[in-house]
Formats: sequence, structure tokens, C-alpha cells
Amino acid sequence: MEINRICVLYFSPTGGTEKIARIVAGAMGQRLGLEPEYIPFTTPQQRQERHFGPADLLVMASPVYAGRLPNKLMPEYKEKLLGEGTPAVPLCVFGNRSCDEALRELALLLEGNGFRLAGGAAFPGRHAFSDRVGEGRPDGEDRRQLEEFAQRLADKLAQDPLPPLDFDRSEIGPYYTPLKTDGTPAKFLKARPLTHWDKCCRCGVCARSCPMGSIDPETMDAVGLCIKCQACVRKCTRRAKFFQDPDFLSHVTMLEEHYTRRAEATLWL
Ligand SMILES: Cc1cc2nc3c(=O)[nH]c(=O)nc-3n(C[C@H](O)[C@H](O)[C@H](O)COP(=O)(O)O)c2cc1C
Repeated sequence: MEINRICVLYFSPTGGTEKIARIVAGAMGQRLGLEPEYIPFTTPQQRQERHFGPADLLVMASPVYAGRLPNKLMPEYKEKLLGEGTPAVPLCVFGNRSCDEALRELALLLEGNGFRLAGGAAFPGRHAFSDRVGEGRPDGEDRRQLEEFAQRLADKLAQDPLPPLDFDRSEIGPYYTPLKTDGTPAKFLKARPLTHWDKCCRCGVCARSCPMGSIDPETMDAVGLCIKCQACVRKCTRRAKFFQDPDFLSHVTMLEEHYTRRAEATLWL
């Protein structure tokens, strides 16, 4: 089939999803002789309505939150990304625990929005909560696997008509319940980042990178909804933002205790 444009749209507060999307799209672009167009969908200003045509290819990349797509992003994923028989590749990036239902959820969402699936993948990356979970990923081995997947996808896209993708279209299961080290649920919905005021230089990078627009650019205080994405923590060069909620910290320790093994990717072709 004819592809004139590779569009790579990503929600990526701490950059891991973007990194993996760029590896896949770069390799596909080389195979198809096209320079990918990158479309960030992370901050409120970036989240514009987008229409894609039949000769576009959409690579849609999202992180996995609680085993699904980030729930606060769902209305915008559903309402703003519109296809017209557009071939698409759902790409989920998870933090080395599990993708659970997220890839199926993204695949079904795209189909519902007028896209036709060429393939899909759930790929492990570093966990936004801890450098020790998914440490160093994507590494060289991941890169090889991602590039091979992208090349096989590009070859599939050369077929006309595009063969239908077979995957489980049953109802999506519940969100994963984060656990503490003692195995009980970690309740940190209300946790928000705090600030070491002696380190903060009021540059405003935290406010500019918050996907929810929830950090006051004058005071640098977290004032609105926090999805725990860690953009403010990781983008601050002075390490001034931190979380101190005990349930959140216990969940992070639990992840470090149980999820440092090498998680595998799921690839659909
Ligand atoms: C709120 C939240 C929930 C998460 N839930 C999961 C999960 O259920 N499974 C998993 O393996 N990783 C989970 N992660 C890790 C992210 O999927 C992973 O770090 C991803 O690469 C983050 O994307 P980004 O770097 O583009 O922001 C979670 C991260 C956050 C912030």
C-alpha cells in the first residue's frame, strides 16, 4: 500500500516512550525511504486534535500506567486522534513490570478511531519511578529487536491490501493495583511532588513539563491534579522536586525488590 508520511505521535513525560518510538520509526523510515514526522502529545499545549489520511502511517506511542493507558489521557486519546482508514502501529512502553492490558487497549482505541492496525508492540523501558527498574533500557539488544520489528512492519506495509491483524479483542481488564512491600495496596492517588526550596532556582522547567499543567509557574508549587508521571522530578537539573508519600515510596521499593529481572517485549505482526 502507498505510504507518503510516517507520523510518530507520543505522550512521554519522562522521555522513555519517545526514545523507543524514535528507534522504531527511524528504522521504518529507512526501509520506506521516508523521514518520520515527530508529534509530541505530552503537554496541554501539544495535545491538539490531529487528523490522519489513508496514505499516512501513524505510530502512536504511550507509556503504560497501572497496566493500562494513562486514564487521565483517555478522553484526549479518544477525541483528538482521528484516522480515515489510516494504517497505524500502537506502541506501549512499560517500566519492566508488565504491560498488562495497555497494548490491547491502545489497539482497540485506534481501531475505534478509524485506524487499521499494521502491527503493534509493548516494549520494556526504564521505570519512571526508579532507575533500578528496567535499568539501562533500551540497550543494544533492545535496539536490535526494535529495528528488526520495524523492518518486518515496513515489509508488511508494502503489501496491498494490508493483511488484517489478529489479536484478542475481548473486553479490557481492570487497572493494576500498585502494592507496598508488605503486599497490601499502595494508596498514593493524592501524592504530589514537594520542593527542596534550597535547591530550586525557579527556572520553571517543572511547570513547563507538567502534562497536567498542575505546577504554578510563579511559585513552583504543585497545585492541580498529579498523575505521578515524574516529569517534574526527572526534568529538574537540581533535583529539587521529590515525592515523600510513604505508600508511593513503599511501592517503589516493592518494584525494586521484585521487578529488576529482564522483562520481554510483546510483538504483534
Ligand atoms: C503512574 C505510573 C504508573 C506506571 N505503571 C506501570 C505499570 O503498570 N507497569 C509497568 O511496567 N510500568 C509502569 N510504569 C512505568 C512506565 O510505563 C515507564 O516508566 C514508561 O517508560 C514511562 O514513559 P515516559 O518515560 O515516556 O514518561 C508506570 C509509570 C507511572 C508514572
